[in-house]
Amino acid sequence: MDADRKITVRDFRKMKQKGEKIVTVTSYDALFAKIADEAGFHLLLVGDSAGNTVLGYKNTIPVTLEESLMLTAAVARGAKHAMVIGDMPFMSYQCNQDEAVRNAGRYLKECGADGVKLEGGSLYADLIRRLVNSGIPVMAHIGLLPQSVLKDGGYRLHGKDEKEAEALLNDARAVQEAGAFCVVLEGVPDELSAIITKELEIPTIGIGAGPFCDGQIQVITDILGLGGSYLPKHAKRYTSLAEQASQALRQYASEVQGGSFPEKRQ
Ligand code: KIV
Repeated sequence: MDADRKITVRDFRKMKQKGEKIVTVTSYDALFAKIADEAGFHLLLVGDSAGNTVLGYKNTIPVTLEESLMLTAAVARGAKHAMVIGDMPFMSYQCNQDEAVRNAGRYLKECGADGVKLEGGSLYADLIRRLVNSGIPVMAHIGLLPQSVLKDGGYRLHGKDEKEAEALLNDARAVQEAGAFCVVLEGVPDELSAIITKELEIPTIGIGAGPFCDGQIQVITDILGLGGSYLPKHAKRYTSLAEQASQALRQYASEVQGGSFPEKRQ
């Protein structure tokens, strides 16, 4: 792939056909977007996980469209090559299709995003079709849907029994048929995500869905050790940035208080 240009939805299909793994991560500002972009990530999702990770809410439900648009614009300013996808927050697409299309369009027109993500399978297939027909690339999201946490009574693996597995396979087929360019599988058993991945022509991007997906997504604060002591089972901490930041800030504070910083100028 030409490193000097933007990655597109067509690259995603080609990568799947060639068996090249797609690497993606969430991003909420221009600073980390630039770092991930330069590290060669293919897609940056401005997840509504921003609710938990950077906005200080207890889940994704309170995130507003305006908050999501602001974060998406920042990420788009930081990323040159990776696709930037805005994650439509709770109640920005559920009420009616006209409003959903108008809201989705704002990510492209006002933020410079390359597409949107929304949670939901077969029930949202018509909306996905309409968005795609309007020129808006859609990343679908099925399985565990964090925006349904209150309805579901918590977070759990989806598709464990035969009935749920069949429903998830149908959701995957429906979002592909509606024109989604890829689909996130969240909290899905490994064997089921392997079956879905084999069946679909569009790439599957897994989180808590095992190693057989076409690509993976992780929440950036989890993998960088910025998310406090809690680490979801599906995540892996690659470094401990919070500890390093805390140490540096304490040292700065102590040097200011002790009078050794700043040093006297000559
Ligand atoms: O909001 C988010 O970060 C997500 C990903 C974890 C897929 O939806």
